[in-house]
Order: sequence, then structure tokens, then C-alpha cells
Amino acid sequence: MAMIGGGPGAFIGPVHRIAAELDREIELVAGVFSADPARSRAGGLAYGLDPARAYGSLAELLTAERARVDGAEFVAVVTPNHDHLPSACAALAAGFPVISDKPMTATLAEAHELAAAVEAAGLPFALTYTYSGYPLVREARARIAAGALGAVRKVVVEYPQGWLAGPAEGKQAEWRVDPARAGAGGCIGDIGVHAFQLAEFVTGLHVTELLADLGAVVPGRQLDDDCSVLLRFANGARGVLLASQIEVGELNGLRIRVYGEQGGLVWKQEEPNTLTLHHLDGRSEVIRAGTGLLGPDAARRTRTPGGHPEGYLEAFANLYRDLAEVLRGGSAPLLPGAAEGLRSMAFIDTAVRASASRAGWTPLTL
Ligand SMILES: NC(=O)c1ccc[n+]([C@@H]2O[C@H](COP(=O)([O-])OP(=O)(O)OC[C@H]3O[C@@H](n4cnc5c(N)ncnc54)[C@H](O)[C@@H]3O)[C@@H](O)[C@H]2O)c1
Repeated sequence: MAMIGGGPGAFIGPVHRIAAELDREIELVAGVFSADPARSRAGGLAYGLDPARAYGSLAELLTAERARVDGAEFVAVVTPNHDHLPSACAALAAGFPVISDKPMTATLAEAHELAAAVEAAGLPFALTYTYSGYPLVREARARIAAGALGAVRKVVVEYPQGWLAGPAEGKQAEWRVDPARAGAGGCIGDIGVHAFQLAEFVTGLHVTELLADLGAVVPGRQLDDDCSVLLRFANGARGVLLASQIEVGELNGLRIRVYGEQGGLVWKQEEPNTLTLHHLDGRSEVIRAGTGLLGPDAARRTRTPGGHPEGYLEAFANLYRDLAEVLRGGSAPLLPGAAEGLRSMAFIDTAVRASASRAGWTPLTL
């Protein structure tokens, strides 16, 4: 694996490195860890790489790695959003499969450009929608698909955080409130998009229209930091999506509830090894990771026996395990790719436009 981004002090790059290497199928061997060559070299040293393989630019990396017999076989893009399109396109054009962090790009128009580049290259392209890697999210999806809830009627998905309630100071915060680097959405593109992808992933249903109210609550902020969105799904089910980065005290409280004709289910990211199922007759069932209650897809993605908690890093590693399968020539149908990326970017774009123009119910169009 070669990595673009993830230099000194970065958040998600080191997570990708750990996740990619967890099952020892993938190894980080090269990267451009910062746009500043000296910081890129420092990043390479911190990851314990051969100093010659911490490059000063992506063009340099692609040429040098392609020329090596032991060169990198794919590229992970973990830079801020505005850089996803150029880095992914350059890697694909040079013949490297790409795994990129979300959102797919900064804007919907860019996402179309990247989807076309993926199609033209004919190479694997994956997006790290982290939450679809959790075993109990896979289990929730499988149970809904098997009819455990009957027809889905209502989805409530919430993603509350509080870390941008004050001035956006510090590395991670600073680019997220800048439209030039974050893109069209603030909170909606940073975490609302995770909630959207989770809702579609778990229910297997597409959102067809939405009604959005996005606010930039902190004075002077150019992008949204607090989002309330009503959803309608293709089967007529209703949904509520709440995402906020100004809810003081909230850490990473992603939670999804799905209700159908026959029952309901609940999954919370901060307690990821439990899935609760409610039945129409009043019984409730608690399904725990690492027990014999999981179906094959979820069971394959669990590494420890019940009661030994797995979490964020392992969920991320499950996406890399799927990628490794794809790179070996197999398939991983639930690994998010360009199609899911386009839908998520359409969600951000529609929500931002509909809220700004107070348009009311607006079709979600690609
Ligand atoms: N899947 C998830 O759960 C999740 C979580 C956090 C962030 N993200 C996504 O990951 C991306 C990065 O977020 P972050 O929080 O790690 O940001 P960050 O600011 O912590 O790190 C970004 C890194 O990219 C480097 N960089 C910037 N431009 C570069 C370039 N042109 N070439 C090489 N390196 C460059 C920076 O030096 C820095 O090291 C964003 O797109 C974000 O949406 C996803």
C-alpha cells in the first residue's frame, strides 16, 4: 500500500495503516504523507518506512513505485476532501487501484468525474465508509434483508458530535470549516454522509427525496455545523437524519434505529458489539458480537470471542480485508465503491441546495 496523506499529527492516516496491516495481508511501503516534502519524510520515518519511499509528490511516487518489482500495488487516499479527486485520478491513470476516504470528493460534479475515471481505468475503487465494516452492522443488514422486521417503515439515524461547538482551531478542525478544502458540505459532508450511507446500507433501500434544514450555528462559520434532514425511501418508508458537530458533550454518538411492520432494531457506534432486536409481541433480543448468534457475513468479520470488545480499528480493517479479497481477484459486494460514493455526494449536494433555497421536499438526484 502507498498512502497519500496521513502525515505527522493526522487523524485518519494512522488508522488506515493499522487497519490495513491488521490481518497481515497488506503492508504500508510508501507514501506522500504531506504536501510538504520534509513533513512527508518525517511521516515515512514515523511509519518505519525506507526513507527513499517517503516521496515529495504523488507524481514522483507513482513513477518510482511502478518501476520497482516490489512496488506498491494500490494507493490509499487519506488527504482532506479537496485532494481526493486529483490524487485518486492520478493513481488510477498510473494503473493503481484506489481506496479513498469519504466523502468521495469535494463536490458532486467532481464525484462524477472520479466515477468516470474509475470506469475508464477498469480498476478497483473503494471508499472507507467505516461503519459498514462493523460485524453487527453487517448483521443488521442481513437480518433486515432476510425479513426480520418485515417491510421497513421508519429509519432514525443520528450522528451527534460536539467538538466543533467552539472556534475551529487545530489541524483536523481547520480544513473542515473551509469550503475550499472541505467542499460543498460542512457537518453534512463530514459525518451526515456517514449517517446517510449507514441508513441505505442497513436497510438496503435508496433515499429518493429529502427535506433539509442545515445551519451554520457558530458565528462566522461558512459551512453547516448542524443538520436536520427528513428522508423518504424508495418503498415509501420515512426517515429522520440528524447530524451535528455543535452538540456539546457528544463524542461520536452515531446510532441507527430501523422499524418495520414486524419489529425494530437498534445499533450504536459507541457500543458496537450489541445489536438489539425488538419483536411485535413485546420480546426483545440482544445479539452480541463473538457469539453463535451471528450470520456468516458478520461472523467472518469478528476476530475475538464474545466479551473481548472489537471496535473502530477492526471495523476499518474489515474494509481492508474486503479490499484484499478484491485485489486477489475475488469479490466483496458490500465494500462501498463509486456507486455508493456518487449516491453520498448526491445526498450532500441535494441537502445543501435544498436547505439554502428552502426548497422543501427535493428529489435526490445523481
Ligand atoms: N472514515 C472515517 O471514519 C473518517 C474519519 C476521519 C476523517 N475521514 C476523512 O479522511 C480525510 C482526512 O481527514 P483527517 O481527519 O485525517 O485530516 P487531517 O488534517 O488530520 O490529515 C490530513 C493529512 O493529509 C495531508 N495532506 C494534505 N494535502 C496533502 C497532499 N496534497 N499530499 C499529501 N498529503 C497531504 C496533511 O498533511 C495531513 O497529514 C478526510 O477526507 C476526512 O473526511 C474519514
